[in-house]
Amino acid sequence: MFDNDKINAIEQKYNEWEEKSVKKTVQRFPERKTAFKTGSNIEVKNLYTPLDIKDLDYIEDLGFPGEYPFTRGVQPTMYRGRFWTMRQYAGFGTAEESNKRYKFLLEQGQTGLSVAFDLPTQIGYDSDHPLAQGEVGKVGVAIDSLEDMEILFDGIPLDRVSTSMTINAPAAILLAMYIAIAEKQNVPLEKLSGTIQNDILKEYIARGTYIFPPEPSMRLITDIFEYCSKNIPNWNTISISGYHIREAGATAVQEVAFTLANGIAYVDAAIKAGLNVDDFAPRLSFFFNAHNDILEEVAKFRAARRLWAKIMKDRFNATNKKSMMLRFHTQTGGSTLTAQQPDNNIIRVTLQALAAVLGGTQSLHTNSRDEALALPTEDSVRIALRTQQIIAYESGVAETVDPLAGSYYIEYLTDKIEKEAQEYIDKIDRLGGASKAIEKGFIQQEIQDSAYNYQKEVENNQRIIVGVNKFRIEEAPPKDLLKVDPEVGRRQEQKLIQLKKNRNNDEVERTLNNLKKMAKTKENLMPAIIDCVKSYATLGEICGILREVFGEYKQAVIL
Ligand code: 3HC
Repeated sequence: MFDNDKINAIEQKYNEWEEKSVKKTVQRFPERKTAFKTGSNIEVKNLYTPLDIKDLDYIEDLGFPGEYPFTRGVQPTMYRGRFWTMRQYAGFGTAEESNKRYKFLLEQGQTGLSVAFDLPTQIGYDSDHPLAQGEVGKVGVAIDSLEDMEILFDGIPLDRVSTSMTINAPAAILLAMYIAIAEKQNVPLEKLSGTIQNDILKEYIARGTYIFPPEPSMRLITDIFEYCSKNIPNWNTISISGYHIREAGATAVQEVAFTLANGIAYVDAAIKAGLNVDDFAPRLSFFFNAHNDILEEVAKFRAARRLWAKIMKDRFNATNKKSMMLRFHTQTGGSTLTAQQPDNNIIRVTLQALAAVLGGTQSLHTNSRDEALALPTEDSVRIALRTQQIIAYESGVAETVDPLAGSYYIEYLTDKIEKEAQEYIDKIDRLGGASKAIEKGFIQQEIQDSAYNYQKEVENNQRIIVGVNKFRIEEAPPKDLLKVDPEVGRRQEQKLIQLKKNRNNDEVERTLNNLKKMAKTKENLMPAIIDCVKSYATLGEICGILREVFGEYKQAVIL
């Protein structure tokens, strides 16, 4: 970017400045810390200049938005053409209660839906299963059958809204239910837009809502890739997630590295299943965290885009540019929310959301101030949504594309994060890929070490958390927290009893027996699963058949 004479002149001036101005100042005002570093332990210098990015090649390393390597964004006009989707993760209690919350959020101006399912649904148990007791409707909406999904989307036109569903192990079943709802609304499948998280590897690593062992899980995932590429062309078939990996304690570099390593594993699996990379890769999507260190987070998103573009082009020989575009959703960092002084979280979320926007996110969820304590009230979730709307309409940062490009620090950090993430990916390749690295506990161990270091810094006050280890106050716990109706479990059990009385049980038995037969073949399971949900077989019954055939995953124990 700069010619040698200029670089030499700057270097000389820099050294003089260090010698004279800096030395004199620090004698009188020593710097407040002996070491400055990012959350990824990258040293932060006092000043960045062209000397730190002298090898940067604009065309090669930055290019233009909407073009390879997409460093500056995936769309030529980005937010000048369309703001990111304001997509609040929501769902609790029964389908009726969640339907009400979705309509409230849409009325308040959110532009995409995001379904949170309760834990029994996520691990494939009906609300009346012993393991579901106490968890029904607690951290998400309880979905036992197509009947609940019909209620969940009642009055919501599926051809007018894009829906994300945070579901992994039973993803195929919830997608099948969504397809059945679309048919009931006479919406052609090619008109459906949305995303299914469908990312089992991060469940093994960090989130924990897995059911089946890796091989059958990967088969279900690639069955969804194949089925959607043929039938639901606008559906994003996976949301390869770094969010939970970061929440578990990973650094920004590890978040990029482990997420993209999982992405490589999914592309490998799909190619091995006989799919053509350009047939499914354009509909892969990603999901990242937005943490507190704004500038590191912006650099992280830019590095991830460039790295994924290179991986898809060079490693997988993709030719369709859409295969090389890393399109992602961001959620602000749940683990940064404090129970102390909850209103402080509004400021944290604002800074994190700003980082996501400056980093070029396609979709965004902003956490609510009270979420360290409970699911958000309507007031809290409205403030969270207004945060996005103020950044979009009032802050000015959406008026031009990738505004921080060219900053010496941002470009230096983008390059550094990309390089360190690539080193991790090389290590994981040497271990045999992400699945093997997970089996060996390598990724989990790396995350645990980072989590330990972070916590140690907080405990010895090296890392200040306002309101927690500094600027504390005496305060009464907030009164108006959302309470999930404890009767939800009983109500769901009643609905299940009625459902099993009213449905055609011979038809249910036929579809479940067919699923069992198909699961033992190499055939795509989506058609058989769709038949099951349409007969009102429950999620638990369908997962029960698959448990019988596939068995269950046993977690690698990390000592
Ligand atoms: N110019 C031209 N076209 C543009 C444009 C522009 N400037 N901006 C957008 N568009 C187009 C896009 O190309 C797209 O059209 P296409 O589908 O034909 O390509 C359309 O407008 C919609 O834009 P996006 O696809 O960018 O936005 P979406 O919101 O539809 O999709 C996504 C974003 C990241 C690709 C998608 O996968 C998504 O919505 N993901 C959300 C995932 C999510 O919400 N996850 C929540 C998980 S919660 C969780 O797990 C945490 C819990 O466990 C605690």
